[in-house]
Amino acid sequence: MKNITLSAVIATGFALVGTAALAEGQPPAEIKPLVIDGINIVAEAQAPSHMDIPAIYSGWEFRAEETQVLQLDDFDNPGMLEVDAAREAFNTVDGAAGKSCASCHEGGPEEFKGLAAVLPRWNPDQNALYTMEDYINYCRTARMQAEAWPWGKTQLNGMVGLLNLQSRGEIRNVAIDGPVADLWQQGHDIYYVKQGQLGMSCSSCHEENYGVRIRAEILSQGQTTGFPVYRLKNAHLNSVENRFKGCMKNMRAEPYKPGGPEFHALELYVASRGNGLGIEGPSVRN
Ligand code: HEC
Ligand code: HEC
Repeated sequence: MKNITLSAVIATGFALVGTAALAEGQPPAEIKPLVIDGINIVAEAQAPSHMDIPAIYSGWEFRAEETQVLQLDDFDNPGMLEVDAAREAFNTVDGAAGKSCASCHEGGPEEFKGLAAVLPRWNPDQNALYTMEDYINYCRTARMQAEAWPWGKTQLNGMVGLLNLQSRGEIRNVAIDGPVADLWQQGHDIYYVKQGQLGMSCSSCHEENYGVRIRAEILSQGQTTGFPVYRLKNAHLNSVENRFKGCMKNMRAEPYKPGGPEFHALELYVASRGNGLGIEGPSVRN
């Protein structure tokens, strides 16, 4: 806990328990194979060369067994209800152009196999960094003449879940050079800067203290390969931004604007910290 003032942490209820509070990040107690409905998910890998830690792990590895098992079979995964609703939305006409997603994407959601593994990425047509949410809302507004779905809410999170599901087991491999190099650097800087009343950065918890118990939870590396995440806490699929926002509130920092440039840069950077891990979303977490 070199960089966290422990008294401030405890004052707000973020007590890091026992001697572990003095430790560096440490691997999960036990690495288990993550196999979802017969698909093998790489949940432990060598860290990408841009990182200072030896290995990366899926957040699943840090969860308690009763949470882990909910993700091993789609019938047990409560997030699949929202994915089913998105599958219906995919086939439902909406907007002034009188089209559904399926009108144009005739191959169904399966057309998007592999896409989640490489997002966010540079979209040369729009000259912008694009997440899955951006692609979906671009099609809705420009191609369907329908309303954009609000960031971080059920419809968009569910559709991201449906499309990400098509990449289950694929290895995350987001590009960090070329046109996104500056944005990646910006995301990196956000990740390491101390902000909020507790003087913490993302790295204070997810790089320096993964494997350490904080309140009732074991800290993971804050990977995003499991998104959207069905959280037992709010009984919904949560987007990457939903999670970032929650962590920033816990840091007593002001969350960035939904869908804004800071969150985009941060999402790219955090995704790149998972290069080498398998895509597993929608996953189940506390
Ligand atoms: C009027 C036709 C049309 C409709 C309706 C439409 N799209 Fe698209 N969509 C396209 C075209 C054209 C592209 C760009 C070329 C491509 O990648 O297929 C695209 C691209 C995408 C991409 C990025 C694919 C990639 O590999 O870069 C996603 C994701 C996507 N659409 C999702 C959706 C979803 C979800 C809906 C419904 C909410 C939808 N689209 C509705 C025509 C459409
Ligand atoms: C005070 C410690 C703390 C800080 C600082 C913090 N987080 Fe978290 N974060 C948590 C806890 C606790 C969880 C839930 C358990 C876990 O997965 O670590 C979590 C979960 C996550 C997850 C979900 C991981 C998964 O597998 O579902 C992501 C992603 C994440 N954090 C990103 C961030 C980012 C980005 C920042 C900086 C803006 C940040 N966190 C700052 C405590 C923190």
